[in-house]
Amino acid sequence: MEHFSIVHAICRLALTSPNEALTHQVERLAEALAGDGDLKSAQQLKQILRSAARGQDMTPRRLVPSRGPTHVVAGEVLLPTTVLPADRESGVRLVDAVFPVESGLARPFFPPHLDRAVQMLVDEWRHVAKLRAVGEEPSMSCLLTGAPGTGKTTLALWLAQQIGLPVLIARVDAMMSSFLGTTSRNISQVFTFANRFQCVLLLDELDSLAKVRDDSNEVGEIKRVVNALLQNMDSRASTGITLGITNHPQLLDPAVWRRFSVQIEVPLPTQEAREAIVRRTFEPLVVAPSVAMLIAALLEGSAGSEVRSIVALFKKREAMNTQTQSVIDVLREIAALNSGRLSAEVKLLLRREDQDLVRWVRKTLGNRIGLVELGTLFNKSKSTVARWLEESEAREV
Ligand SMILES: Nc1ncnc2c1ncn2[C@@H]1O[C@H](COP(=O)(O)OP(=O)(O)OP(=O)(O)O)[C@@H](O)[C@H]1O
Ligand SMILES: [Mg+2]
Repeated sequence: MEHFSIVHAICRLALTSPNEALTHQVERLAEALAGDGDLKSAQQLKQILRSAARGQDMTPRRLVPSRGPTHVVAGEVLLPTTVLPADRESGVRLVDAVFPVESGLARPFFPPHLDRAVQMLVDEWRHVAKLRAVGEEPSMSCLLTGAPGTGKTTLALWLAQQIGLPVLIARVDAMMSSFLGTTSRNISQVFTFANRFQCVLLLDELDSLAKVRDDSNEVGEIKRVVNALLQNMDSRASTGITLGITNHPQLLDPAVWRRFSVQIEVPLPTQEAREAIVRRTFEPLVVAPSVAMLIAALLEGSAGSEVRSIVALFKKREAMNTQTQSVIDVLREIAALNSGRLSAEVKLLLRREDQDLVRWVRKTLGNRIGLVELGTLFNKSKSTVARWLEESEAREV
């Protein structure tokens, strides 16, 4: 269809305030184009119809404008109704807006040194005016790295909630285009938009921008993309912090890495943090401390997301209250149903005899679990587990 890009742009703009009649007419146009054999244009219209439908559903009542340091941070206030930037050709939205201010997002569990570092960042943004009075600015950018499922995205949203600003999540996959120059243009569009509003700009899965593509102009194009990112980061306005997240920092161009003034490595959770994740996942049910300790010890080396998934299964069984087996047998069953999610070590451990496992628990957790609780985990009496421990100690001597 001649001048389709203009028709498409009109439809996209109109659909930012959709109504039934308008949606119907755009659907008719899409069908007519498909009937004429112009499937690509029809597809593009269907895409903006889907985005518009999602936009309507995604506006829960609790979404509120930011109540953060807005009186000192420059820029317009981002609202749930603000029209978000889209790729000029495909009409695909380039960012999502999230308003975590009142969502009551819980803080991920980190070791104390990391908690303090994160708190410092929050404090800088909460006291922007005091910093500016002495000629300083808060940290403008922060890169979060770490293994998958360690809580990086949750931390980013929590930071925004604490700072009191809404988040623009750049949809890096939508920003990438096989058309030469379009990815760079999309990057600029996202930054220009973020610079207009008071917001945290979140570049999640940042490394995918650096992915090598099957493009004959690959080398030149990647250089252009990296340059666009660097230039835009350099000229980022002080309307909010820019957060980058990557599981693969080694794939990032070192110049990009260096642009982030703060770099936080998010670690795998410690035993203490895993126990806390078990307790939080169990809520509103209350988990026995010995069960939390056992699950956390078994899942050493797992990311928080894995701990959550395993515990959610355990919690379901508790909620249904159909359990007659011992805790350890339930864990064995869950492990059998989730073998892909668990490490070889955990699977081997759970295949051991109860007596060996009792010994392992005692060695790993020491006296944190008493003999009575240990017995309860295995559906055995205190005297039985005491005898097992004595026997295995005697064998070791
Ligand atoms: N340290 C932690 N404390 C509490 N919850 C955690 C922790 N680590 C992960 N989780 C939980 O695991 C889930 C996944 O976390 P999240 O998506 O933030 O991880 P991620 O590091 O962004 O993962 P990915 O690299 O796959 O994007 C969330 O429900 C989160 O609450
Ligand atoms: Mg993530």
